Amino acid sequence: MAFELLPLPYAEDALEPAYSARTISFHYGKHHKTYVDKLNELAAGTELADLSLDDVIRKTAGQADKTAIFNNAAQVWNHTFFWNSMKPAGGGAPEGELAIKINETWGDVTKFVEAFKTAALGRFGSGWVWLVWEGGKLKITSTLNAETPLVGAAKPLLTVDVWEHAYYLDYQNLRPAYVQAFFDSLVSWDEALTRFLASKG
Ligand code: FE2
Repeated sequence: MAFELLPLPYAEDALEPAYSARTISFHYGKHHKTYVDKLNELAAGTELADLSLDDVIRKTAGQADKTAIFNNAAQVWNHTFFWNSMKPAGGGAPEGELAIKINETWGDVTKFVEAFKTAALGRFGSGWVWLVWEGGKLKITSTLNAETPLVGAAKPLLTVDVWEHAYYLDYQNLRPAYVQAFFDSLVSWDEALTRFLASKG
């Protein structure tokens, strides 16, 4: 069974104007799709071909001779997680226990967003910035290139893709403006809350 490009959870133009249909058509239709195609090509005929995507990632993480397959599999997973971190007419404020924890950890949501922007700016080159639940605490972390918190103790709650292909068409080189727009108009706090409630046990 081949690995699949999962459908977007909304129409390609549903995040306009903060995230354009043109960006999504390249980001989902070309970049994300290419990771899926490449993964299928690399896994074909190997013992990895019949595993779940999560298992392929866990099995190949840290294996020097499996870097290409890990990178493509992890990028498929990270992108699906990213699409689900956003929703049409997103933004607003977090709610419930997640809001309480964010306020406890950073003071308020504005300070949380500032800390997230700092982490995004500090991620040299390509990668991902995450809000995670780890060891009973909320943390902002970032990963390089295809690296993913799926392999590790941290439970991801939301992510922002900070590869240039994620924002260049809409925001050019202005990564902090893109991250600000993500929290103003795109983030799905309800998805993050659902993940938080499932993660904290
Ligand atoms: Fe991306």
